[in-house]
Amino acid sequence: MPVAPFDFSSLLPAGLPPAAVKWTGAARYNFIGGNNDPAQVPVDGLIAAATAVLKREGPALASYGVRTGPQGYRPLREFLADKLRRDAGMSCSYDDILIVSGSLQALDLINGVLLARGDTVIIEQESYQGSLNRLKRLGVNAVGIPLDRDGMRIDALSDALASLKERNIRPKYIYTIPTVQNPTGTIMPIERRRELLKLATDYGVPIFEDDCYADLIWDGQRPPAIHALGESGNVIHIGSFSKSIAPALRVGFIVAPWQILSRALALKSDGGTGALEQMVLAEFCGPQFTTHVPRLRRGLRAKLDTLIAALNEQFGTAAEFDDPKGGIFLWVKLPDAVDTMKLNQAALAAGIAINPGPEWSTDATYSRSRLRLCFASPSPEAIREGIALLADVCRKEFGVPARIANVAQRAGR
Ligand SMILES: Cc1ncc(COP(=O)(O)O)c(C=O)c1O
Repeated sequence: MPVAPFDFSSLLPAGLPPAAVKWTGAARYNFIGGNNDPAQVPVDGLIAAATAVLKREGPALASYGVRTGPQGYRPLREFLADKLRRDAGMSCSYDDILIVSGSLQALDLINGVLLARGDTVIIEQESYQGSLNRLKRLGVNAVGIPLDRDGMRIDALSDALASLKERNIRPKYIYTIPTVQNPTGTIMPIERRRELLKLATDYGVPIFEDDCYADLIWDGQRPPAIHALGESGNVIHIGSFSKSIAPALRVGFIVAPWQILSRALALKSDGGTGALEQMVLAEFCGPQFTTHVPRLRRGLRAKLDTLIAALNEQFGTAAEFDDPKGGIFLWVKLPDAVDTMKLNQAALAAGIAINPGPEWSTDATYSRSRLRLCFASPSPEAIREGIALLADVCRKEFGVPARIANVAQRAGR
């Protein structure tokens, strides 16, 4: 007789996130997630680095973590300290850095150190879904600050801080993605970084700077990190190798004062970030990071050009967007008639995955007809075909785009 499967449902505690949906394969035209370009993973360099480091230090894998202590593999932290000084103007030593299992773990650890249910934080109105969802799950009130082409608006931030202070609320941090913002692609200029820092300092609020796209600016010119401009140690800076090398490696980092790192370390309960990944990255990045990244940027820029051309051809003036100065995303505004949550469902049924705006915003009305497209991972052919199909789906559902390539289209075609 068949045995009835054990039922766990009565054992599940309250407050779990909704159950995951079973994976049924990636969409044929996949414009979602923060994935990288498969053709740009430096496979040969990583093979050579893995071979060299395993031959030299392989026996160290017998122990949990790495030989250089719980903050992570020292050559990798030394590489980072040097790179952050050179590129972002930050003065930090390897000892100010904690290697983590992707910057998602950095988000969890900093949230774990600073946040309790009912707290308030300030965040860009459009922001990374992973950050927004974490705050929601923690029961934290996220106050969204609108962005313009230079990132978080300082006038709106100033008003929000003043109004919170009137209500005796001190936000736990101001979370910002200042260097190629996700999803809008803006880069905050240095003057605005200074203003942001001044406001944060005046109100006694730390800044949580998430800088994971900073290597992907087309001309390689980035403003100094906010961390570099502060003097009082009130900026927590996080970054990642996901966007510059490969997200599957799961290696990110936190730069923060020991008062924060010591607490984050106490919460880091994974037995150490993968040692092999850290060792391979250090071995590869030392000699090759500065040649790999410009190549990656050129490839990404070419894919963005393909996406922009496809949108112009298929959507015409119905798709509005700014040409981002870097990154892997395009943030697109469609006509007001389009509800991108509904478009997402219809597109999925046609084999196209997009990120609907409301999942990336604290303002459901503003983001209703917006969407985010990742151009890094689909091939140029998939970008062209996928956007043509998306235009068809959108036209069937919402009657727009009405024209393509200056040829009028009928809804329901
Ligand atoms: C702004 C931002 N922060 C953090 C992450 C997490 O990256 P990872 O955990 O791969 O380092 C992402 C991923 O897309 C992101 O866009």
